[in-house]
This record gives sequence, structure tokens and C-alpha cells, in this order.
Amino acid sequence: MRGLKGKTEVALSGKIDEADLKEILAEHDLAVRGDVSDYVVLKIDGRLCAAGRLVLSGRNCFHLEVFGVRGELRGRGIGGLLLSEIIKRPWKYCREAEGGGDYKSYRLTTVARGGAAGFYEKHGFRAFSFAALPPPYNTQCDDCPDRETCRPLPMVLEKER
Ligand SMILES: CC(C)(COP(=O)(O)OP(=O)(O)OC[C@H]1O[C@@H](n2cnc3c(N)ncnc32)[C@H](O)[C@@H]1OP(=O)(O)O)[C@@H](O)C(=O)NCCC(=O)NCCS
Repeated sequence: MRGLKGKTEVALSGKIDEADLKEILAEHDLAVRGDVSDYVVLKIDGRLCAAGRLVLSGRNCFHLEVFGVRGELRGRGIGGLLLSEIIKRPWKYCREAEGGGDYKSYRLTTVARGGAAGFYEKHGFRAFSFAALPPPYNTQCDDCPDRETCRPLPMVLEKER
């Protein structure tokens, strides 16, 4: 990672991460959804630098509901590292799938805020349609007053191992 040194660790979160998670999510105008231990976090030397929330959305299907990097650490490869890990083994970082997984083929979906679509494309995602997303994500932006400025783009990655 550019300009960053230290021991990097990607794992599911725990109670101990609650305050840091709240801080990162607040930067994205989000509150903690579900349990604080449902998130996948990237830490460098123990400091929480990025977080995401992956839910099981069907058989072999995972939906990345939240994804963000600490504001001052963006553009240094941290988001890319966390996303690559998630793509390789989503079941490992999805609380609902714990204990299962190691699928031969699987699908990851997300809704990128328009500006971030290029980031996901770099990692193999392609544009998808809202209608093809699992509920409740297929209608999540329907009544949002920020839709025009946010330009949400549903995206999918289909993976074979
Ligand atoms: C989008 C985000 C997760 C990317 O993480 P990051 O650590 O900044 O990204 P990385 O440094 O790993 O990779 C950035 C690469 O993606 C590309 N990219 C394309 N669109 C981008 C965008 N909107 N933001 C950041 N990078 C983007 C960059 O050009 C860069 O390419 P390079 O490595 O060839 O220079 C992070 O910037 C972030 O949290 N942004 C605000 C919240 C957000 O938009 N989250 C996504 C939710 S849909």
C-alpha cells in the first residue's frame, strides 16, 4: 500500500471495534446496521482503516451493503486490498455464512455510489440493474432524495474458482 507500513489484517469485527466502526460509518453518513460484529474490517497495526458489511443474499450470493475507507487514508490501496480479500473468500467475511462456503462459483453484488463505480470495475465488477438485485436492495434507492447527486449504480461480479 502506498506510503503505509505495518501489519495488515482482514477479519470479521468484534465488540472492541464498535467506536472505530461508528466513526468510519459516520463519515459515510451511515449508522451501524445489524450487530457491530457483522462487519469485515481491515486493520493496520491494530488501527481500523476500512470496513464493509457483507450479507448472504441467496445461494452462493453475497451483497456488499457498506464499504468505506477512512477519509484521510483513501487513494493508497487500502480499499483495493480489502475488496480483493472479500472477492477471494466472501464467506469468510460474511457473518451469516460463517462455517460454510468455499464455493466453486459465487456472485457478489453491490450498489456503488456513482463516483465509485470505477473502483469496483477495476476489481472486475460490471454494471447490473436494480431489478436483478436481491430484495431489499432492488428498491433501496427508490425514494432517496439524494439519488440524483449520488448516482447509484448496481454492480455484479461473478466468480469461478
Ligand atoms: C471508494 C473507496 C472505497 C476506494 O478505496 P481507496 O482505498 O480510496 O481506493 P484504492 O486506493 O484501493 O484504489 C483506488 C483506485 O480506484 C480508482 N477509482 C475509481 N473511482 C474511484 C473513486 N470514486 N474513489 C476512489 N478510487 C477510485 C482510482 O483511480 C484508483 O486507481 P489507481 O490505484 O490505479 O490509482 C474509498 O475511496 C471510499 O471510502 N470512498 C468514499 C465512500 C465510497 O464511495 N464508498 C463506496 C461505497 S459505494
